[in-house]
Amino acid sequence: MVKKSLVSAPGKIIISGEHSVVYGQPALLSAINKRLYVQIEENNQGVRIMADEPTELAEYALEKTREFLGERINHLKIKIKSEVPVNRGLGSSAALSVAMVGALFRWVGREWNKSLINQLALTIEKKQHQNPSGGDNSVSCFGGLMAFQQGKIRRLKTKFDFQKFILIDSGQAIESTGEMVAGVGRKFQAPNSKTQKILDELGKITLRFIEEFKDPRHFDYSKCLISKNQRLLEKLGVVGKKAQRLVRLIEEQGGAAKICGAGGVKEGSGVLLCYHQNPKILLDFTQKEQIPYFKLKLGEEGLRDEN
Ligand code: PMV
Repeated sequence: MVKKSLVSAPGKIIISGEHSVVYGQPALLSAINKRLYVQIEENNQGVRIMADEPTELAEYALEKTREFLGERINHLKIKIKSEVPVNRGLGSSAALSVAMVGALFRWVGREWNKSLINQLALTIEKKQHQNPSGGDNSVSCFGGLMAFQQGKIRRLKTKFDFQKFILIDSGQAIESTGEMVAGVGRKFQAPNSKTQKILDELGKITLRFIEEFKDPRHFDYSKCLISKNQRLLEKLGVVGKKAQRLVRLIEEQGGAAKICGAGGVKEGSGVLLCYHQNPKILLDFTQKEQIPYFKLKLGEEGLRDEN
């Protein structure tokens, strides 16, 4: 057993395909430059988990990983530090699930098998979201930029100019991802529902986006894909008023924006993925309106041993 285990896993954005990916459509995802760190050390008395956020999911991850490893893992001090804000569509729970499993594998000296770690992280995600697609944990575990569909991962290379993206904050969603996914599920099952059609449309846009990332055409094309995507998510009922208003303001500046996770309707809808040919215009806009933002790096490394 090692003396200390320190690992990290990144947050993510969904460039296209949130919600529709739960129904088997493709999604385009990327790991981002915000990471969550899990450190494990020996503890004299029992298990102690230290974190800024509630620790239920970390406790559950510990229980599931213990069960899987078939080892009595006791006397641990687990410290969780995260740069990934919660309930903002940045995959904080997936990063936690992946990093917890990874750190425990390291702690007991298990082989660093990312496929296995990812499978286990998905079972943990199920507690949090009931019906996760598996996209969030996969991109957090393997990193990079990927197309994900029904459990299958395709790594992508791109010539796309990531400098043209920034994330701006429409505020924390008060609904959980599980609640948002369940809400879409209820609409899907309602009589005469148009939800299937919207999900199919989202699937088509994602496929076009995947092509666009392989071989970028021109600014207007990407802008148009982001805006169409956002409108479909609004029709799906996962974007609140505040975020919709922000998106329109960004469009008035000549850009495009969309939510990049489960969304939220009662208050904030999480971060917005914003795109502009001239990102300075977006930066000036966020400063003028005093909206929190950060610059994005996409395609970041997945689960990482930090020892
Ligand atoms: O909001 P997040 O980061 O939990 O992302 C959820 C993405 C969904 O497509 C809405 C759900 C899923 O399991 O893929």
